[in-house]
Amino acid sequence: MNNISVIGSGTMGNGIAHVFAQYGHQVTLIDINEKALEKALATIEKNLDRQVAKEKISEADKNKALANITTNTDIAAGVKNADLVVEAATENFEIKKQLFQTMDENAPESAILATNTSSISITRIAAETNRPGQVIGMHFMNPVPVMKLVEVIRGYATTDETTAKVMETSKKLQKVPVEVNDYPGFVANRILMPMINEAIYTLFEGVAGVEEIDTVMKLGMAHPMGPLQLADFIGLDVCLSILRVLHEGFGNQKYAPCPLLVNMVTAGYKGVKTGEGFYKYTPGSKDLVVSEMFKK
Ligand code: CAA
Repeated sequence: MNNISVIGSGTMGNGIAHVFAQYGHQVTLIDINEKALEKALATIEKNLDRQVAKEKISEADKNKALANITTNTDIAAGVKNADLVVEAATENFEIKKQLFQTMDENAPESAILATNTSSISITRIAAETNRPGQVIGMHFMNPVPVMKLVEVIRGYATTDETTAKVMETSKKLQKVPVEVNDYPGFVANRILMPMINEAIYTLFEGVAGVEEIDTVMKLGMAHPMGPLQLADFIGLDVCLSILRVLHEGFGNQKYAPCPLLVNMVTAGYKGVKTGEGFYKYTPGSKDLVVSEMFKK
């Protein structure tokens, strides 16, 4: 699969375009917003520069990767030569439904249509197309150029052939693909989100403070980030919406989002993206400062 179209140029989309381009694929990065595409290309260049600085790739590799990426603001035109389309747009079923219908109408008949969704049912998305056997989940982790996992999610109708092609393509990106079935939260978020929710409950109930909770998990369990910092990094709104998918999908109270998380998202404290969540973020600074709200 040589020609890859990536829909959505946000954090996940630009990371996915980055790795496909780095490993020699021709990438069309698609976004309806021209400014977002310019920003995405600048981010990809900055992240490739990091890899050059760490001597992971050469300057020539960086230039080749950048030359492999073209952009398009028209979805229909952007997918017309694709072997594989990876959709990484907003986590909203109605938006994905429209996108998959457009992809289905315009991509070659043989193309595989993948989604990077973190929690929307692959089976439900596939049912909106005329090729449900060729629809699959390709769930990359943030930051995409660094994290080795691709959670490959088979919808109810996804064929063995589609799965095999996506597993093989992921391996060529030097990733480790793991095949899972399509149930709420798949595997990654079914396990990660209850841990994050429990960390928020632990704070909410006054068992320990923000730094204490994160330090226990960082030093005690060798997690690179504590669960509260990770929640800020993922986005508290994203965590809340995934917990709601789990809660609704299983009808089990154990997934009920902590009221503190609900309040924070309602008040606009969504983590890194809004500048404050459990921690306060200053652009350009790597210091981890606990939000005033949680200072003792
Ligand atoms: N592009 C390229 N390289 C990057 C990068 C990017 N966007 N971001 C970081 N890096 C590289 C750095 O250059 C650095 O390289 P070396 O190891 O060669 O030094 C390395 O990654 C580590 O980066 P930093 O030194 O800047 O910072 P760090 O050591 O604190 O690590 C981190 C940052 C990699 C993000 C680490 O904290 C981490 O692994 N955190 C956990 C991330 C995680 O759990 N992600 C999954 C989230 S869940 C998800 O994505 C799915 C979902 O559905 C919610």
